[in-house]
Amino acid sequence: MRFGTVEALAGATIDIRAGEFLAIVGDSGGGKTTLLRAIGGLLPLAGGSIAFHDARGRSVRPGPRDLGFCFQEGRLLPWRTVLANVALPLELEGMAREERLQAAAGMLARMHLQGVEQRMPRELSGGMRMRVAMARALVTRPRVLLLDEPFGALDEVTRQALDEELLVLVRETGATAVLVTHSIQEAVALADRVLVLRGRPGVSLAPIAIDLPARDELTRLSVGFASLCAQVQAGLRGGRVA
Ligand SMILES: Nc1ncnc2c1ncn2[C@@H]1O[C@H](COP(=O)(O)OP(=O)(O)OP(=O)(O)O)[C@@H](O)[C@H]1O
Ligand SMILES: [Mg+2]
Repeated sequence: MRFGTVEALAGATIDIRAGEFLAIVGDSGGGKTTLLRAIGGLLPLAGGSIAFHDARGRSVRPGPRDLGFCFQEGRLLPWRTVLANVALPLELEGMAREERLQAAAGMLARMHLQGVEQRMPRELSGGMRMRVAMARALVTRPRVLLLDEPFGALDEVTRQALDEELLVLVRETGATAVLVTHSIQEAVALADRVLVLRGRPGVSLAPIAIDLPARDELTRLSVGFASLCAQVQAGLRGGRVA
C-alpha cells in the first residue's frame, strides 16, 4: 500500500489458514490496520495481490456477509441506538425486524452489554462502544473476522472475560479470525499463530505457533504461556526477519 511517499507492507507475504485464529502484534505505524483494510478490500493495492481460497484450495471472492469488521475507532452510527447499530448488517440483508433485533440483543448480551440497547453511542464509554462494534461485526456470523484492537480500551478483567467470549464465538462459527492487538498476553491467549510486524512501516517475521494444551483461565498462569509471550516479545524487540 502506498500513502504518498510511505510504503506500507512492502514485500509482505502473509498466509492465513482457513479457520485459524491469527493475532498480529507490532509497532505503532507498522501497518497492522493497513493490512486489515487491505484484506477487507477497503484500500486499493499499490502492488501485489490478496487471494481468498475455499477449503479445497479453489480461488473464491468473499461476499459482503463473509467479512466482519471491527475497526480501531468503532465507527458506530451516532444517530442510531446501540441495538439498531448492531442490527444494521442484518437489516441490510433484509432480515425481518423482530428476528434481527433479537439476534442483535443476543450478541450484545454476549459482549456483556445488557441494559444499554436503547442508548445512543455517545452515551457509552469508549470501551463499551468498541464492544458494540464487536457485536455488530459478529452478528452476521462472518467467515472471516477482522478485528482491530477491539478491547484496547478495557480494564484487564473485562478484557479477559471478553477474550474468552470471543474465542467461544469464533470456535462456534468456525470463522477465520485476524486480531490486531497491542497485548502480547491477549495474542498468545487467543491465537493459533502470532505474527509480528516489526519496524515502521513494518516487515513481517515468521509467525510463532501457539501450541498450548488448553485455553482456560489457568493457561495464562502456566510456564508454557510465559515462554510463548517471551518469544513474541523477543520478536518485537528484534528477532530474525523472515
Ligand atoms: N490514510 C493514510 N494516509 C497516509 N498514511 C497512512 C494512512 N494510513 C496509514 N498510513 C501510514 O501507513 C503506515 C502504517 O499505518 P497503520 O495505520 O497500518 O499502522 P498500525 O500498525 O495500525 O499502527 P497502530 O498500532 O498505531 O494502530 C504508517 O506509516 C501510517 O502513517
Ligand atoms: Mg492501527
